[in-house]
Amino acid sequence: MNLPNALTYSHTLLEDCVYPGATVVDATVGNGHDTLFLAQLVGPTGHVIGFDVQAVALAHTQTQLTLTGQQSRVSLHHVGHEHVAEYLAPDQTVAAAIFNLGYLPGSDKTKITHAPTTLTAVKALLPHLPRGGRVILVVYAGHPGGAAEAQAVHQFCADLPQKTYQVLQYGFINQVHTPPYLLAIERR
Ligand SMILES: C[S@@+](CC[C@H](N)C(=O)[O-])C[C@H]1O[C@@H](n2cnc3c(N)ncnc32)[C@H](O)[C@@H]1O
Repeated sequence: MNLPNALTYSHTLLEDCVYPGATVVDATVGNGHDTLFLAQLVGPTGHVIGFDVQAVALAHTQTQLTLTGQQSRVSLHHVGHEHVAEYLAPDQTVAAAIFNLGYLPGSDKTKITHAPTTLTAVKALLPHLPRGGRVILVVYAGHPGGAAEAQAVHQFCADLPQKTYQVLQYGFINQVHTPPYLLAIERR
């Protein structure tokens, strides 16, 4: 079997820490691949809180959730993930959050994620992680603006205190194009 790419591996890392009944966050819903995957993992008693700034993408995901009978476990918000703190109670546990950075393929390539808002959201989520909880970022550095965001996110993660968090980097290093790589922050 081939080594999994960053996207595939992000789902493996989610599977490990998301349990039935959990609350989780999809910070970049897009067409909903991660949202639907998370909805399956949390099951009928769990909750997926999703964010995206593109209404068309959210509408597409909402349709997929309805078709699969999972709409009651997912709340989609047409607002930037930098507002995530407003959607969580102060003592709310979030088992996992996923960020799939960059732009939505097949959509407006100027609607990209940016370091300041990405990091605002990550910082807001970290205090909600239980031990073993994870914030996972799939990082794309190849598009305009992507390298700057990747650099800032990488630096933030590298500076996290080892006593409280361990951070994994995963990705291929010998591909001709710039493949996405993964950063996973786990609360110890
Ligand atoms: C790579 S795509 C996500 C793909 C998605 N996970 C899927 O399964 O299709 C990145 C998404 O981030 C969204 N985005 C950009 N800035 C955002 C922000 N501040 N908050 C939430 N979403 C944002 C874009 O609209 C885009 O849909």
